[in-house]
Amino acid sequence: ASPSHKAEFIGALDVGTTSTRFIIFDQFANIVSSYQVEFTQHYPEPGWHEHDPIDLLESVYDCIEGAVEEMEDLGYDRESVKALGITNQRETTLLWNKETGSPMCNAIVWDDSRTASEIHRYQRLLDDVGIEIIGSDLELKLEGLIEVDDDKGGGGSGGEGRKKKFLKGTQGIKELTGLPLSTYFSAVKLRWMIDAHPSIKKAHEEDKLCFGTVDSWLVYNLTGGIENGLHIQDVSNACRTLLTTLQTISWSPSLLAFFGLKESMLPEIRSSSEVYGTIFEGPLEGVPIAGIVGDQQAALVGQKCLAVGEAKATYGTGAFVLFNTGDEPIRSKHGLISTVAFQAGPNSKPVYALEGSVAVAGASIKWLRDQMHLIHKSSDVDDLVSQVSDTGGVYFVTAFAGLLAPYWDTEAGGLLIGISSYTTKAHIVRATLEAIAYQTRAILEAMRADSDTPLKKLRVDGGVTNSDHAMQIQADIGGFNIERPVMRESTALGSALLAGSAIGLFGWDISKPETLRKVNARAMGKFEPKLPEDQRERKWKGWKRAVERSKKWRQ
Ligand code: G3P
Repeated sequence: ASPSHKAEFIGALDVGTTSTRFIIFDQFANIVSSYQVEFTQHYPEPGWHEHDPIDLLESVYDCIEGAVEEMEDLGYDRESVKALGITNQRETTLLWNKETGSPMCNAIVWDDSRTASEIHRYQRLLDDVGIEIIGSDLELKLEGLIEVDDDKGGGGSGGEGRKKKFLKGTQGIKELTGLPLSTYFSAVKLRWMIDAHPSIKKAHEEDKLCFGTVDSWLVYNLTGGIENGLHIQDVSNACRTLLTTLQTISWSPSLLAFFGLKESMLPEIRSSSEVYGTIFEGPLEGVPIAGIVGDQQAALVGQKCLAVGEAKATYGTGAFVLFNTGDEPIRSKHGLISTVAFQAGPNSKPVYALEGSVAVAGASIKWLRDQMHLIHKSSDVDDLVSQVSDTGGVYFVTAFAGLLAPYWDTEAGGLLIGISSYTTKAHIVRATLEAIAYQTRAILEAMRADSDTPLKKLRVDGGVTNSDHAMQIQADIGGFNIERPVMRESTALGSALLAGSAIGLFGWDISKPETLRKVNARAMGKFEPKLPEDQRERKWKGWKRAVERSKKWRQ
């Protein structure tokens, strides 16, 4: 190694669904060094998906060490890393013991659908009651189900000026949180953990539990764990728990009461860009943790979609489209989620987004490889797809654990339809890529309907976007233009930008997009629709018919 010299870099820790990576960026978002580790996926029963929280931590320590070593081999001093940004798979739910700092069970991963019957139970319960939403803070009162003290409700504004609004059933929950009642979000997973394990139930009763999403677990441990570790969660993660109000981004006492959860286990909600604390030990000891953001919101920031109307799609394990709606949440009438994108500092207004989430994107390619053995490696997809110009009439609804946006059907069954003796594995592989493209189109159509703004182009990133074929299929099926950046680690970059902005490094300021002009500024790759309009619409109709058949299959 050459003699070590000083520079200024930002580290970004990205803990996704299947792997962790640590990336060190310079001021233009060039990658100085990076390290990636896959961790074990546990599928103990059909529809269940778990992670061992200790595996997640070990992957983090390995990645930090690996990337810092590589940076040192390039001749840079480890003190060059000035701040750390954290980004994570969202909704995944963890519990640990306040007294020992140890996890009390495996984490339940966001796409786990074990709570489907619980969701039904809650839906039936809510169908029987009217929901009364009181006041501008949209505090929720579940008449006849729980007692809510009006004076306490979520910072409620008191008697005067409190508008009352009645909503039927689960609509009230959506109005309050921006989210539909679904297995996807943390609250029901958390309730399941408490009910399934007597030791957790006891710890809950005795106020000895800490709940967190992956960001909370990482920060707790990186800042010292049982020795004064911080118990926090950023706004973009908190708003996915089904326990906060979208407008105030604070814990809702009535939702906590509805799910029977105690306040004593909740993390403190913080902005996405501020110095929270410093790393306790290891190669980056003393480095401030200055940015925390859920991975999909991070990609929105990393793609610099910072103005109202800008949108991105990230194709990772799942596919997630986010559309920036500025400092007011738009409530979707077409099956999308209203979510917090980020908050640029403790005193800044939060920025909101409309989101469409597809549970299975890259995961279906992994399934072709690991379960069906139709391909040996993910990149084989391109060879096979190029052998056929269409799917020969095959549609693949990849509803492995129900369907998320915009369909929201926990009981939809995976469906491969239109197979004939003509069908080859190339057709099935192509139908797998088309399934991702159709679901993304369905979301973009919903966004168009909700926001009245036609989307002209979509910025993309994530593993699947490495395939030119997948992107051309997306442009053809969607009927819109696609822009793909050269540096596609947008998720990690988003958390780095928030961390850099918090400490004022490189003049970055997330609320002033012009300060980020030179970041990741290389020309984008472009894909335009080539499929004739009539063919596009014929295929689209076929997809919609296939989805109808997959719905409610598991009922
Ligand atoms: O909501 C789940 C999402 O955050 C997972 O993202 O990139 O790990 O598929 P990813």
